[in-house]
Amino acid sequence: MKAKIPLLVTALGATACFISLLYADEASTKADKLATKFPQWAEAQKLKGDAATGKAFFESHTVNNNFTCISCHSFNPDDTFKLDGDKLIRSGNPIFGAAQRTNIKNEGSSFAALGGNICVLHFMRGKEPGLSAQELANLNAFLKSGGGADHATAKNLDYPKMKRTVPEKLTGGDAERGQKIATEQYCIACHTVEGKKYLHFQGGRKLRGGTVPVSKLKGLALRIRNPDFKENDEMPGHDDLRMPEKDLLDILAWLTEK
Ligand code: HEC
Ligand code: HEC
Repeated sequence: MKAKIPLLVTALGATACFISLLYADEASTKADKLATKFPQWAEAQKLKGDAATGKAFFESHTVNNNFTCISCHSFNPDDTFKLDGDKLIRSGNPIFGAAQRTNIKNEGSSFAALGGNICVLHFMRGKEPGLSAQELANLNAFLKSGGGADHATAKNLDYPKMKRTVPEKLTGGDAERGQKIATEQYCIACHTVEGKKYLHFQGGRKLRGGTVPVSKLKGLALRIRNPDFKENDEMPGHDDLRMPEKDLLDILAWLTEK
Protein backbone atom coordinates (compact mmCIF):
# COMPACT_ATOMS: atom_id res chain seq x y z
CA MET A 1 0.00 0.00 0.00
CA LYS A 2 2.76 2.37 1.02
CA ALA A 3 4.61 1.85 -2.24
CA LYS A 4 1.50 2.33 -4.37
CA ILE A 5 0.80 5.95 -3.45
CA PRO A 6 3.99 7.50 -4.85
CA LEU A 7 3.61 5.31 -7.90
CA LEU A 8 0.07 6.55 -8.46
CA VAL A 9 1.23 10.13 -7.94
CA THR A 10 4.01 9.65 -10.47
CA ALA A 11 1.61 8.10 -12.96
CA LEU A 12 -0.85 10.96 -12.51
CA GLY A 13 1.93 13.49 -12.82
CA ALA A 14 3.21 11.91 -15.99
CA THR A 15 -0.29 11.79 -17.48
CA ALA A 16 -0.94 15.43 -16.63
CA CYS A 17 2.39 16.37 -18.10
CA PHE A 18 1.71 14.38 -21.26
CA ILE A 19 -1.74 15.95 -21.65
CA SER A 20 -0.40 19.47 -21.14
CA LEU A 21 2.32 18.76 -23.69
CA LEU A 22 -0.28 17.61 -26.17
CA TYR A 23 -2.34 20.74 -25.61
CA ALA A 24 0.68 23.04 -25.74
CA ASP A 25 1.69 21.52 -29.05
CA GLU A 26 -1.79 21.81 -30.49
CA ALA A 27 -2.18 25.36 -29.22
CA SER A 28 1.13 26.51 -30.70
CA THR A 29 0.30 24.89 -34.04
CA LYS A 30 -3.12 26.52 -34.04
CA ALA A 31 -1.77 29.97 -33.31
CA ASP A 32 0.97 29.57 -35.89
CA LYS A 33 -0.12 31.41 -39.02
CA LEU A 34 2.27 29.62 -41.34
CA ALA A 35 1.27 26.18 -40.03
CA THR A 36 -2.36 26.87 -40.94
CA LYS A 37 -1.40 28.27 -44.34
CA PHE A 38 0.27 25.03 -45.45
CA PRO A 39 -1.91 21.91 -45.04
CA GLN A 40 1.02 19.54 -45.76
CA TRP A 41 2.78 20.71 -42.59
CA ALA A 42 0.61 18.57 -40.29
CA GLU A 43 1.71 15.49 -42.24
CA ALA A 44 5.34 16.69 -42.39
CA GLN A 45 5.55 16.86 -38.61
CA LYS A 46 4.68 13.17 -38.34
CA LEU A 47 7.42 12.15 -40.75
CA LYS A 48 11.03 11.53 -39.87
CA GLY A 49 13.06 14.16 -41.67
CA ASP A 50 16.54 13.45 -42.97
CA ALA A 51 18.98 16.32 -42.33
CA ALA A 52 21.49 15.19 -44.98
CA THR A 53 18.79 15.12 -47.67
CA GLY A 54 17.62 18.53 -46.43
CA LYS A 55 21.17 19.88 -46.73
CA ALA A 56 21.50 18.65 -50.32
CA PHE A 57 18.12 20.25 -51.05
CA PHE A 58 19.26 23.57 -49.52
CA GLU A 59 22.45 23.61 -51.55
CA SER A 60 21.36 22.38 -54.95
CA HIS A 61 17.60 21.99 -55.43
CA THR A 62 15.93 24.36 -57.91
CA VAL A 63 12.18 24.76 -58.49
CA ASN A 64 11.07 26.87 -61.47
CA ASN A 65 14.13 29.07 -62.02
CA ASN A 66 17.85 28.90 -61.21
CA PHE A 67 17.70 29.93 -57.58
CA THR A 68 18.84 27.60 -54.82
CA CYS A 69 18.33 28.41 -51.13
CA ILE A 70 22.08 28.86 -50.71
CA SER A 71 22.26 31.55 -53.41
CA CYS A 72 20.23 33.81 -51.09
CA HIS A 73 20.96 32.49 -47.57
CA SER A 74 24.04 31.27 -45.77
CA PHE A 75 23.85 28.34 -43.34
CA ASN A 76 27.23 28.37 -41.63
CA PRO A 77 28.33 28.32 -37.96
CA ASP A 78 30.33 31.54 -38.54
CA ASP A 79 27.29 33.50 -39.79
CA THR A 80 26.34 36.81 -38.25
CA PHE A 81 23.56 39.10 -39.48
CA LYS A 82 26.22 41.44 -40.89
CA LEU A 83 28.38 38.90 -42.63
CA ASP A 84 27.83 35.40 -43.95
CA GLY A 85 30.20 32.72 -42.65
CA ASP A 86 31.91 32.47 -46.07
CA LYS A 87 32.38 36.31 -46.11
CA LEU A 88 29.68 36.93 -48.73
CA ILE A 89 26.80 39.30 -48.03
CA ARG A 90 23.84 37.56 -49.68
CA SER A 91 20.54 39.34 -50.23
CA GLY A 92 18.72 37.19 -47.65
CA ASN A 93 19.85 36.94 -44.05
CA PRO A 94 21.78 33.88 -42.84
CA ILE A 95 19.58 31.18 -41.35
CA PHE A 96 21.99 29.06 -39.27
CA GLY A 97 20.03 29.97 -36.13
CA ALA A 98 16.62 30.38 -37.81
CA ALA A 99 15.11 27.25 -36.20
CA GLN A 100 15.33 29.14 -32.87
CA ARG A 101 13.28 32.13 -34.07
CA THR A 102 9.70 32.76 -33.03
CA ASN A 103 8.60 35.32 -35.63
CA ILE A 104 9.48 33.69 -38.95
CA LYS A 105 8.50 35.88 -41.92
CA ASN A 106 7.01 38.32 -39.43
CA GLU A 107 4.07 35.91 -39.11
CA GLY A 108 4.48 34.91 -35.46
CA SER A 109 5.60 31.47 -36.62
CA SER A 110 8.34 29.34 -35.12
CA PHE A 111 8.67 27.02 -38.11
CA ALA A 112 11.68 28.05 -40.18
CA ALA A 113 11.02 25.33 -42.77
CA LEU A 114 7.72 27.06 -43.57
CA GLY A 115 9.58 30.34 -44.02
CA GLY A 116 11.58 28.42 -46.61
CA ASN A 117 8.35 27.23 -48.21
CA ILE A 118 7.25 30.86 -48.67
CA CYS A 119 10.54 31.47 -50.49
CA VAL A 120 9.84 28.43 -52.68
CA LEU A 121 6.54 30.00 -53.77
CA HIS A 122 7.70 33.60 -53.99
CA PHE A 123 11.32 33.53 -55.16
CA MET A 124 11.73 30.07 -56.66
CA ARG A 125 8.38 30.24 -58.47
CA GLY A 126 6.95 27.05 -56.99
CA LYS A 127 3.29 26.06 -57.28
CA GLU A 128 0.95 26.19 -54.26
CA PRO A 129 1.25 24.71 -51.67
CA GLY A 130 5.01 24.44 -52.30
CA LEU A 131 7.17 21.64 -50.95
CA SER A 132 5.84 18.15 -50.24
CA ALA A 133 5.45 16.92 -46.66
CA GLN A 134 8.62 14.81 -46.94
CA GLU A 135 10.65 17.70 -48.40
CA LEU A 136 9.48 19.95 -45.56
CA ALA A 137 10.36 17.30 -42.97
CA ASN A 138 13.89 16.99 -44.44
CA LEU A 139 14.34 20.77 -44.57
CA ASN A 140 13.09 21.02 -40.99
CA ALA A 141 15.61 18.40 -39.82
CA PHE A 142 18.39 20.24 -41.66
CA LEU A 143 17.49 23.68 -40.25
CA LYS A 144 17.33 22.20 -36.74
CA SER A 145 20.90 20.95 -37.13
CA GLY A 146 22.02 24.61 -37.05
CA GLY A 147 22.86 26.92 -34.16
CA GLY A 148 21.36 26.91 -30.66
CA ALA A 149 19.64 29.77 -28.84
CA ASP A 150 22.97 31.57 -28.28
CA HIS A 151 23.94 31.69 -31.99
CA ALA A 152 24.32 35.18 -33.51
CA THR A 153 21.50 34.50 -35.99
CA ALA A 154 19.07 32.91 -33.53
CA LYS A 155 17.26 36.23 -33.05
CA ASN A 156 14.10 37.28 -34.85
CA LEU A 157 14.63 39.50 -37.88
CA ASP A 158 13.49 43.09 -37.48
CA TYR A 159 11.22 43.24 -40.52
CA PRO A 160 9.83 46.77 -39.92
CA LYS A 161 13.43 48.07 -40.01
CA MET A 162 14.27 46.41 -43.32
CA LYS A 163 14.01 49.50 -45.51
CA ARG A 164 15.21 49.66 -49.10
CA THR A 165 16.34 53.25 -49.48
CA VAL A 166 17.56 54.72 -52.76
CA PRO A 167 19.40 57.93 -51.79
CA GLU A 168 18.93 61.21 -53.69
CA LYS A 169 22.61 61.50 -54.59
CA LEU A 170 23.95 58.45 -56.41
CA THR A 171 27.42 59.66 -57.39
CA GLY A 172 30.66 60.20 -55.49
CA GLY A 173 31.28 56.62 -54.34
CA ASP A 174 34.65 54.84 -54.36
CA ALA A 175 34.75 52.82 -57.61
CA GLU A 176 37.77 50.74 -56.63
CA ARG A 177 36.19 49.63 -53.38
CA GLY A 178 32.88 49.08 -55.20
CA GLN A 179 34.51 46.62 -57.59
CA LYS A 180 36.12 44.79 -54.68
CA ILE A 181 32.94 44.33 -52.65
CA ALA A 182 30.84 43.49 -55.74
CA THR A 183 33.35 40.79 -56.66
CA GLU A 184 34.07 39.45 -53.20
CA GLN A 185 30.82 39.87 -51.29
CA TYR A 186 27.70 40.96 -53.12
CA CYS A 187 27.00 40.37 -56.82
CA ILE A 188 29.35 37.39 -57.27
CA ALA A 189 26.79 35.02 -55.73
CA CYS A 190 24.72 35.24 -58.95
CA HIS A 191 26.75 37.10 -61.59
CA THR A 192 30.12 36.68 -63.22
CA VAL A 193 31.85 39.92 -62.19
CA GLU A 194 34.81 41.35 -64.13
CA GLY A 195 35.44 37.88 -65.56
CA LYS A 196 35.41 36.16 -62.16
CA LYS A 197 32.90 33.32 -62.32
CA TYR A 198 29.67 33.46 -60.30
CA LEU A 199 29.48 31.25 -57.22
CA HIS A 200 25.96 29.87 -57.50
CA PHE A 201 24.47 30.70 -60.92
CA GLN A 202 24.47 33.30 -63.67
CA GLY A 203 21.51 35.65 -63.16
CA GLY A 204 20.96 37.81 -66.24
CA ARG A 205 24.15 39.25 -67.64
CA LYS A 206 27.79 39.31 -66.63
CA LEU A 207 28.71 42.51 -64.82
CA ARG A 208 31.52 44.89 -65.78
CA GLY A 209 32.49 48.26 -64.33
CA GLY A 210 32.15 51.46 -66.38
CA THR A 211 29.20 50.21 -68.40
CA VAL A 212 26.26 52.24 -67.06
CA PRO A 213 25.61 55.88 -68.09
CA VAL A 214 24.92 58.34 -65.25
CA SER A 215 21.37 58.80 -66.61
CA LYS A 216 20.63 55.14 -65.79
CA LEU A 217 21.99 55.13 -62.22
CA LYS A 218 18.61 55.61 -60.60
CA GLY A 219 17.18 52.58 -62.40
CA LEU A 220 20.22 50.52 -61.44
CA ALA A 221 20.00 51.55 -57.78
CA LEU A 222 16.33 50.53 -57.82
CA ARG A 223 17.34 47.16 -59.22
CA ILE A 224 19.93 46.62 -56.49
CA ARG A 225 17.49 47.61 -53.72
CA ASN A 226 14.34 46.23 -55.40
CA PRO A 227 11.83 47.97 -53.10
CA ASP A 228 8.50 46.13 -52.80
CA PHE A 229 10.04 43.41 -55.02
CA LYS A 230 8.70 45.26 -58.08
CA GLU A 231 11.83 46.30 -59.97
CA ASN A 232 13.18 42.94 -61.05
CA ASP A 233 11.76 39.84 -62.64
CA GLU A 234 13.63 37.69 -60.17
CA MET A 235 16.68 39.33 -58.68
CA PRO A 236 16.17 39.89 -54.94
CA GLY A 237 17.27 43.30 -53.65
CA HIS A 238 19.59 44.16 -50.76
CA ASP A 239 17.92 46.07 -47.93
CA ASP A 240 19.64 48.88 -46.00
CA LEU A 241 20.82 46.57 -43.22
CA ARG A 242 22.43 43.99 -45.52
CA MET A 243 23.91 46.70 -47.80
CA PRO A 244 24.75 49.99 -46.09
CA GLU A 245 24.40 53.14 -48.23
CA LYS A 246 28.18 53.48 -48.61
CA ASP A 247 28.40 50.02 -50.17
CA LEU A 248 25.56 50.85 -52.59
CA LEU A 249 27.24 54.11 -53.66
CA ASP A 250 30.62 52.42 -54.11
CA ILE A 251 29.10 49.67 -56.29
CA LEU A 252 27.30 52.32 -58.37
CA ALA A 253 30.58 54.26 -58.78
CA TRP A 254 32.26 51.10 -60.10
CA LEU A 255 29.45 50.45 -62.61
CA THR A 256 29.22 54.07 -63.84
CA GLU A 257 30.66 55.01 -67.25
CA LYS A 258 33.78 57.14 -66.91
C1 HEC B 1 15.88 34.84 -54.21
C2 HEC B 1 16.37 34.77 -52.88
C3 HEC B 1 15.82 33.73 -51.93
C4 HEC B 1 15.73 32.37 -52.13
C5 HEC B 1 16.07 31.58 -53.37
C6 HEC B 1 15.28 31.81 -50.89
N1 HEC B 1 15.08 32.81 -49.98
FE1 HEC B 1 14.51 32.57 -48.06
N2 HEC B 1 14.30 34.59 -47.87
C7 HEC B 1 14.71 35.51 -48.79
C8 HEC B 1 14.44 36.85 -48.26
C9 HEC B 1 14.76 38.15 -48.96
C10 HEC B 1 13.80 36.66 -47.01
C11 HEC B 1 13.28 37.76 -46.08
C12 HEC B 1 14.12 37.94 -44.86
C13 HEC B 1 15.57 38.13 -45.15
O1 HEC B 1 15.96 39.15 -45.72
O2 HEC B 1 16.32 37.21 -44.81
C14 HEC B 1 13.76 35.22 -46.79
C15 HEC B 1 13.27 34.61 -45.64
C16 HEC B 1 13.49 33.29 -45.30
C17 HEC B 1 13.24 32.69 -44.01
C18 HEC B 1 12.60 33.40 -42.83
C19 HEC B 1 13.58 34.13 -42.00
C20 HEC B 1 12.90 34.83 -40.85
O3 HEC B 1 13.47 34.82 -39.76
O4 HEC B 1 11.81 35.37 -41.05
C21 HEC B 1 13.65 31.40 -44.06
C22 HEC B 1 13.63 30.39 -42.92
C23 HEC B 1 14.12 31.15 -45.40
N3 HEC B 1 14.02 32.33 -46.12
C24 HEC B 1 14.58 29.94 -45.85
C25 HEC B 1 14.78 29.67 -47.21
C26 HEC B 1 14.97 28.32 -47.75
C27 HEC B 1 15.05 27.06 -46.92
C28 HEC B 1 15.07 28.46 -49.10
C29 HEC B 1 15.17 27.38 -50.14
C30 HEC B 1 14.07 26.44 -50.16
C31 HEC B 1 14.97 29.88 -49.40
N4 HEC B 1 14.78 30.57 -48.24
C32 HEC B 1 15.08 30.45 -50.66
C33 HEC B 1 15.31 35.24 -49.99
C34 HEC B 1 15.39 34.00 -50.58
C1 HEC C 1 20.74 36.16 -55.49
C2 HEC C 1 21.16 36.32 -56.87
C3 HEC C 1 21.56 37.69 -57.35
C4 HEC C 1 22.42 38.58 -56.76
C5 HEC C 1 23.15 38.45 -55.45
C6 HEC C 1 22.55 39.68 -57.67
N1 HEC C 1 21.78 39.47 -58.78
FE1 HEC C 1 21.58 40.75 -60.34
N2 HEC C 1 20.28 39.45 -61.23
C7 HEC C 1 19.91 38.23 -60.73
C8 HEC C 1 18.97 37.61 -61.65
C9 HEC C 1 18.32 36.25 -61.47
C10 HEC C 1 18.80 38.50 -62.72
C11 HEC C 1 17.93 38.31 -63.99
C12 HEC C 1 16.47 38.46 -63.70
C13 HEC C 1 16.09 39.85 -63.31
O1 HEC C 1 16.40 40.81 -64.03
O2 HEC C 1 15.49 40.00 -62.24
C14 HEC C 1 19.62 39.66 -62.42
C15 HEC C 1 19.72 40.78 -63.22
C16 HEC C 1 20.55 41.87 -62.98
C17 HEC C 1 20.67 43.02 -63.85
C18 HEC C 1 19.91 43.23 -65.14
C19 HEC C 1 20.58 42.48 -66.24
C20 HEC C 1 19.89 42.73 -67.56
O3 HEC C 1 20.21 41.97 -68.47
O4 HEC C 1 19.07 43.64 -67.66
C21 HEC C 1 21.60 43.86 -63.31
C22 HEC C 1 22.09 45.18 -63.86
C23 HEC C 1 22.04 43.24 -62.08
N3 HEC C 1 21.39 42.03 -61.92
C24 HEC C 1 22.97 43.77 -61.24
C25 HEC C 1 23.36 43.21 -60.03
C26 HEC C 1 24.31 43.82 -59.11
C27 HEC C 1 25.02 45.15 -59.34
C28 HEC C 1 24.44 42.97 -58.06
C29 HEC C 1 25.27 43.14 -56.82
C30 HEC C 1 25.02 44.34 -56.05
C31 HEC C 1 23.53 41.85 -58.29
N4 HEC C 1 22.91 42.03 -59.49
C32 HEC C 1 23.35 40.80 -57.42
C33 HEC C 1 20.32 37.67 -59.56
C34 HEC C 1 21.16 38.26 -58.63
